[in-house]
Amino acid sequence: MFDLIVKNATLPDGRTGMDIACSGQKIAAAEPNITAEAGEIVDAQGYLVSAPFVDPHFHMDATLSLGTPRMNVSGTLLEGIALWGELKPIQTVDQIVERAIKYCHLAAAKGIGAIRSHVDTCDDSLTGVHALLEVREKVKDYLDLQLVAFPQDGLLRSATAMENTVRALDLGVDVVGGIPHFERTMADGAESVRLSCELAADRGLMVDLHCDESDDPHSRHIETLAYESQRLGLHGRVAGSHLTSMHSMNNYYVSKLIPLIAEAGVHAIPNPLINIMLQGRHDTYPKRRGQTRVRELRDAGITVGFGSDCMMDPWYSLGKADMLDVAFMGLHVGQLSSRADMAWCFDAVTTNSAAIMGLSDYGLEKGCDANMVLLQASDPIEAVRLRAHRLAVIRKGKTIARSAPMAFELTVDGQTTTVNEASYAVTG
Ligand code: FE2
Repeated sequence: MFDLIVKNATLPDGRTGMDIACSGQKIAAAEPNITAEAGEIVDAQGYLVSAPFVDPHFHMDATLSLGTPRMNVSGTLLEGIALWGELKPIQTVDQIVERAIKYCHLAAAKGIGAIRSHVDTCDDSLTGVHALLEVREKVKDYLDLQLVAFPQDGLLRSATAMENTVRALDLGVDVVGGIPHFERTMADGAESVRLSCELAADRGLMVDLHCDESDDPHSRHIETLAYESQRLGLHGRVAGSHLTSMHSMNNYYVSKLIPLIAEAGVHAIPNPLINIMLQGRHDTYPKRRGQTRVRELRDAGITVGFGSDCMMDPWYSLGKADMLDVAFMGLHVGQLSSRADMAWCFDAVTTNSAAIMGLSDYGLEKGCDANMVLLQASDPIEAVRLRAHRLAVIRKGKTIARSAPMAFELTVDGQTTTVNEASYAVTG
């Protein structure tokens, strides 16, 4: 007798007709034709069941603040940072908590099971930190929230950022963040990378820096991040987020850089939606795409996970907590169009991002956490193509979200038929 069984699922690795049985909060068995009884049966009807989506890069202290106190007119990263600076002093802990919880509800319903959120540590009151620590506790039954101490205005450029970042870590923030390309000089940027990595090494923490989020090919802090990770033995605990300047670097330099990133075990977190919107703003034509070299990083053995970064905030006015939107954009901008590449884009918002966040017991095998999302799609490629409808979300062995299958009733030529966009299979 199990607590819950998902019947007749297709798994991301291609296995079909699979049943997944859950006991308590864990997966007890994943195999075909489980005949035991269960308290709850979820019929997957042959559709895709995946471990939850994982968003490795988000800003939950800013989300859903769009329009307060004004809109970002230029659409640039720098105006976004300036606008955020106007919003910070006028928002309260309660307002941030309310917005963040509203976002978490949407994220959970869309099958996101874990989020790494940066939280600004540059205001002396640590308003965002206090708010998101409260949110992390409030949402833990349905969402794993990992927080990054993020000195938005620069670890060295902002007078009290270092002190406040340490205070945030003391309060329980999980990961050390930074923004070297926003420091006053390249030298200060490199110094901030060193300080961030040493702080993490001293405390046994992970590092995730906003790194080289610009179109400037001379913004090379990822090189320093790889060097410091290597020097301090932080392999597997460090991520570089964005890395957009790599798009504009010369190929010769990159041919040396990528092996250094791989050697240091540094992960990469591109954020396709926000960076296709923000980058290339100083270009006329041709306009650079500003997405880092996803294929080349991946092919060098570097773990690459796509993040969403924003939803309705000073930097990005769109978004709907949909990691398949993120994968879809990453696929297009990276021209990842082969069957293997498209399937990999699904990994970039699930297993790869889970590995970057260091999530334990993530997956669909026996012993993993009983967390799953049922998608109205036959396989990962179709899930990305359709940005597939979520039919059910299971968390800790219980169904926490359900939705009826998406279909259209079409009447043409006097005949009414049902159109299901998830029924257009590859024929070849
Ligand atoms: Fe970010």
